[in-house]
Amino acid sequence: MAQRIAVYPGSFDPPTYGHIDLIERAAKIFDTLVVAVARNSDKASLFSVEERIEMLASIVKPHGNVEVTSFQGLTAEFARQRNAIALVRGLRVVSDFEYEITMAIANQKLNPTIDTVCLMPSERFLLLSSRIVREIAVHGGSLKEFVPEEIEHRLIEKLGRNGA
Ligand code: PNS
Repeated sequence: MAQRIAVYPGSFDPPTYGHIDLIERAAKIFDTLVVAVARNSDKASLFSVEERIEMLASIVKPHGNVEVTSFQGLTAEFARQRNAIALVRGLRVVSDFEYEITMAIANQKLNPTIDTVCLMPSERFLLLSSRIVREIAVHGGSLKEFVPEEIEHRLIEKLGRNGA
């Protein structure tokens, strides 16, 4: 039977418990999940793509069917190259919806063979985002509710114990 491959694209700057929750859910649905860090995101990033790949690689270690990589250019094109049948995205609150549907429709036009599958994270992570994590880290707040210890250490290394 054909492998059901999905791509989970994103910035992951840094990966949070919300991303981990999504990876766990998607890994159960698809045969292979490719977590893909976008190289050309228009957002200024805190961590380099290589650092984000390292953090994600350590997160996905327990899952034999999840790989981590990066890609340049269009997500729809990368998904085509990987023979993916779906893009996975997290949908938390209503305000995510407009952004996600705009992207999903654009990706559908660029690659009609791929569907976007939006997964809802656990209620605990509904209001969690990388932006919030970066903001708390900048001000030296505790991150233990939001990211694994290893990522908290990386944030402290990057920003200093009391933030930048
Ligand atoms: O985690 P993010 O920042 O919400 O992820 C956004 C991302 C990287 C998935 C999106 O910006 C993207 O797909 N970028 C690649 C370029 C692309 O394909 N753009 C067209 C989709 S509208």
